Amino acid sequence: MLKSYEVVVIGAGPAGYVAAIRCAQLGFSTAVIDEWKNEKGESKLGGTCLNVGCIPSKALLESSENYERVAYKFGNHGISVTGAKIDVAKMQARKDKIVSQLTGGIEMLFKKNKITWLKGHGKFSGSGEKYMIEVSDGGSPEIVEANHVIVATGSTARHLPGLAVDNETICDNVGALALNAVPEKLGVIGAGVIGLELGSVWRRLGAKVTILEALPNFLGAADDAVAREAWKVFVKEQGLEIKLGVKIGKVSRGKRGLTVEYETAEGKQALDCNKLVVSVGRVPNTHDLGAATVGLKIDERGFIEVDEHCRTSLPNVYAVGDVVRGPMLAHKGMDEGVMAAERIAGQAGYVNLDTIPWVIYTAPEIAWVGKSEQQLKAEGVAYRAGQVPFSHNGRALGQDETAGFVKILADAKTDRVLGIHIIGSHASEMIAEAVMALEFGASSEDIARICHAHPSLSEVTHEAALAVDKRAIHS
Ligand code: FAD
Ligand code: NAI
Repeated sequence: MLKSYEVVVIGAGPAGYVAAIRCAQLGFSTAVIDEWKNEKGESKLGGTCLNVGCIPSKALLESSENYERVAYKFGNHGISVTGAKIDVAKMQARKDKIVSQLTGGIEMLFKKNKITWLKGHGKFSGSGEKYMIEVSDGGSPEIVEANHVIVATGSTARHLPGLAVDNETICDNVGALALNAVPEKLGVIGAGVIGLELGSVWRRLGAKVTILEALPNFLGAADDAVAREAWKVFVKEQGLEIKLGVKIGKVSRGKRGLTVEYETAEGKQALDCNKLVVSVGRVPNTHDLGAATVGLKIDERGFIEVDEHCRTSLPNVYAVGDVVRGPMLAHKGMDEGVMAAERIAGQAGYVNLDTIPWVIYTAPEIAWVGKSEQQLKAEGVAYRAGQVPFSHNGRALGQDETAGFVKILADAKTDRVLGIHIIGSHASEMIAEAVMALEFGASSEDIARICHAHPSLSEVTHEAALAVDKRAIHS
C-alpha cells in the first residue's frame, strides 16, 4: 500500500532534519528522504554540514590551531615544547569520530521523534490531491505521498570547467577535509570562506599554501576594515600567500604534482603544488528533483524560487536552506526549517535574513551581522562608528590573543545599531550578543549601558558601543 505522510522532507542536512523534527514536534506524521552515503557506502543523516562541511572543518581547525599553539605560540607563556609533531591519521580519526557521533545523534533524534527515514534519491513524480514522491536507492523505486513537502536538498561544490575534481589531487571540500598527509605545497582556487578556513588548516600544519582569487579585492563581503586587518594578519604575519585578480589558465599534471597556470595584472605566472583545492562557491541541488513534472519554479541560477516564508510556487510545498536564496549557512537553513514546519501548522514562524550572522573560523576569527561601513556609504545612510581593539583588553592579553577589534555602526540620528563587525579570538561566540542587539533593535547606548563581565572579551563590544559616542573608557 502507498505510504502516506502529512509531511515529506527531501534532504536531511541541517535545514531538512531540523524541519522534520519540528514537524514531528507539531504532531505531523513525517518522513525524510536522503541519499547521502559516506565513503564506506553507509547512509548517513546530516547532509553537507555534518559530513563534509561545518563540523569536520571545525574539528580540523581546532586540531591544527592547537598544533600551531604548541609548536610556536606557547613559548610566550613560558611553556617550551620541543619536537611537537602532528599525527594526521589521528587528527582525521578524531574528526571522523565527531562526525559519526553527530550523524548518529540525528538518527537517534529521528527515532525519538518517530520520523521515518527513507534512504535514497527523492523526486516529485506527480501531484493531485497529494504530492507523489519517488524514492530510489538502486532497486525498484518506491512512491510515497504527502500533503506537504519541504525541499531541503542543499548544495554541492561548484567545479570549474576543464578541471576535473578527483578528491585525491584536485579536491573540493570533500577531499580537502580528508587529506591523509600534509602536502608540501597546497594550491587553493578561491579566497572565500572554505579557501581561508581549509587553507589555514594545512598552512598551520606546515604546508606552503597559495590561494588564487579571481576578484581584485579581498573578502569583499566583510567590512573593509575587517578585510584589511584579516589581510594584515593572514598574509603579512601568518604567511598565507594570496594572489588577487587571478585568471586561472591550464592546470597540468606532472610526476610531482600539478602546475596551475594563471594570469594577474603582472602577467602570466605558474604555481606548482602537490594538491589543489577548488573552493569557488556552491551550487544548489535541484537537478533530477522532478521540478518540471509538478511545475516547481527554479530560477536561472538553479535555486528554488521562494517567498519570505519559504513558500514555493506550488501550494503546500516549501523549500529551505542552501537550495533557496540567502546565505548558504547551516543556521540560516535550520531557522528556515523551523519556520516552514510552523507555517504548515498555521503558526507564524519567521526568519529575518537581515540578522543572520556570518562567521569565518580562521585565527583570529571573523564574525559580523548587519551592514558593513561600505554598504551604509553606498546606501547613503548617515552613521556613527565605534571601533576598539582587543590589544587593550585584559582577557585578550591573558590569552595572548590580542589581534583584531570590534566595530559597531549605528544610525547617526536614532543610534540604532546597524552592523557589528568583529575580528578576534572567539568572535564566533561574541557575535551572539551582536545578533541579539540587532534583532531587538538596540541602540549603541543600550549596549553601552549593559553590564559586561570583567575581564572578558565582551568588554570590547561594550567599549566599541561607548566609542560610537566617543566616550570609550579604556581606549
Ligand atoms: P545540505 O547540508 O547540503 O544537505 C542536503 C541533503 O540533501 C544532503 O544530505 C543530500 O544528500 C540530500 N539530497 C540532495 N538532493 C536529494 C534528493 N533529490 N533526494 C534525496 N536526498 C537529496 N555553514 C555554517 O553555517 N557554518 C560553518 O561553519 C560552515 N562550514 C562549512 C564548511 C564547508 C567545508 C562547507 C562545504 C560548508 C560549510 N557550511 C557552513 C555551509 C553548510 O554546510 C550549509 O549551509 C548547510 O549544510 C546547508 O544545509 P542544507 O540542509 O540546506 O543542505
Ligand atoms: P565563497 O563564495 O565563500 O568563495 C568563493 C571564492 O572563489 C570567491 O572569493 C570567488 O570570487 C572566488 N572564485 C570564484 N570563481 C573563481 C575562479 N574561477 N578563480 C578564482 N577564484 C574564483 O565559496 P566557498 O569558499 O567555496 O564556500 C562555499 C560556501 O560554503 C560559502 O559561501 C558559505 O556559504 C559556506 N561556508 C561557510 C562557512 C562558515 O560559515 N564558516 C565555512 C565554509 C563554507
